[in-house]
Amino acid sequence: MKILIIGATGTIGKEIYDHLKENHEVYAAHRNSDSYPIDITNKDSIKSLFDTLPKLDAVINAAGTASWKHFSDLSEEDYYVGIKSKLMGQVNLVHIAKDYLNENAVITLTTGILAEHYEPNTTALSLVNGAIHSFVNSAAKELERGIRLNVVAPGAIAGDFPEDQKFAGYLPVQIQDVVKIYEYTLTSTNTGQILKIY
Ligand SMILES: NC(=O)c1ccc[n+]([C@@H]2O[C@H](COP(=O)([O-])OP(=O)(O)OC[C@H]3O[C@@H](n4cnc5c(N)ncnc54)[C@H](OP(=O)(O)O)[C@@H]3O)[C@@H](O)[C@H]2O)c1
Repeated sequence: MKILIIGATGTIGKEIYDHLKENHEVYAAHRNSDSYPIDITNKDSIKSLFDTLPKLDAVINAAGTASWKHFSDLSEEDYYVGIKSKLMGQVNLVHIAKDYLNENAVITLTTGILAEHYEPNTTALSLVNGAIHSFVNSAAKELERGIRLNVVAPGAIAGDFPEDQKFAGYLPVQIQDVVKIYEYTLTSTNTGQILKIY
């Protein structure tokens, strides 16, 4: 498969890239990439990258951020960081990618455990994670040409977070197990799924 991975130098994206490149033609994209630069907060940047690539069979996004602050300290502007990046970055990616993909291609987004479990200072992240779950549930049903849309919702990744300390009520997960879930979305025939691993 020809696969674009966005966020390919990150904790999650790099491991997906290292694993999938063994058996697939994989393009590793992120803002500071020399070869495949993309900023998901900018629609022109998303389009520019797709214009340079061949038609793809899959897009995996593991990029997107939001503000980490206590609820009492969150300003409206703080919320917009996540709305612009992790929420609308991924929404715009789906809108643009669908026109550049082969029939029956698959798009896989990323959210996280905070969509439904509490951890201090993460209200702004929870907001966008939950919104993406609702978006995927609905948009997947209206995507055409057999294009599938799913989202992986990992718990805290062991290594990024201490392995023996619970995050949002759950112990961190091993990155190898998380990578297998992303890989599963490439071949499964399901769409509109929220694949939780925590
Ligand atoms: N790490 C965890 O424990 C964990 C757990 C659950 C969910 N998540 C979620 O998974 C996603 C990835 O997390 P991570 O920890 O792997 O992130 P990370 O280590 O901070 O890496 C982020 C990656 O995305 C790229 N990037 C950042 N902003 C971008 C943008 N606007 N457009 C395109 N690329 C961008 C970065 O490269 P450049 O700086 O070069 O762009 C880098 O490759 C996030 O949405 C995070 O909330 C993470």
